[in-house]
Amino acid sequence: MRVLFIGDVYGAPGVSAVKSFLRSARASFDFVIANGENCAGGFGITRAHFRALRDAGVDVVTLGNHTFDQPEAAQLLEETPRLVRPLTYPRGTPGVGFVTLPARDGSRITVGQVMGRLFMEAMDDPFEAADAIVEAAGPDEPVIVEVHAEATSEKKVLGYHLEGRASAVIGTHTHVQTADEALYQGTAWITDVGMTGVEHSSIGMRFEEVHHRMRTKQPRRFKPAVGTATLCAVALTLEGRRARSIERLRWRADDLADDAVQDSHALHGERT
Ligand SMILES: [Fe+2]
Repeated sequence: MRVLFIGDVYGAPGVSAVKSFLRSARASFDFVIANGENCAGGFGITRAHFRALRDAGVDVVTLGNHTFDQPEAAQLLEETPRLVRPLTYPRGTPGVGFVTLPARDGSRITVGQVMGRLFMEAMDDPFEAADAIVEAAGPDEPVIVEVHAEATSEKKVLGYHLEGRASAVIGTHTHVQTADEALYQGTAWITDVGMTGVEHSSIGMRFEEVHHRMRTKQPRRFKPAVGTATLCAVALTLEGRRARSIERLRWRADDLADDAVQDSHALHGERT
């Protein structure tokens, strides 16, 4: 089974890059996952963004610490199991923390997400949650655990925790792709898959306002960067539960810049 995991899709340029990339690449994959918690200008996801990603060919959209930034998120989570929020939220939180779905090749795949606790909002135990995700998958079926976390060490230790048990442990949230992809006992690892957004930015936001705030310690409203996005992803080859390969992808949507700008206007008009 060939699985594509697309890193944090940031703002309208990120959504456009996903659409552009999958237009030609979707047929090469049996299942596509994308982290979409920054679609709405960095702050969560709207129904329109979710729809756009689904229409582009994404099977499951994952979230993270920005899950509830948009008012419609709770309802959207109740409407579809294809939108997955961290399992580490308190019991009773709307939506699901993992989902099992059929892939294009006919086999089933489980996708779940946990959130880290270092330098992040207090959450339930990600180790226990990761165990629950792995246990939810059928015997010898693929299971992907996304670790949405700030600290590299916590991501690495969660990878170790799941070694030989998960098909892949994919880090997200820090938005800068790491070059440490590896296979250990049939588990594919990467500390951070990277961002799908405008690379010349402060992890998705325009430099100007962030620079001002950092230099002067005075508030200025952040604005999402505009321009051409770079898509960051990993492509996985899985056989049953075991991963056979992990390949890092970085793709810049240069030749489709006009498309990206147009979509940017359409999506930003809605909510920023
Ligand atoms: Fe995040």
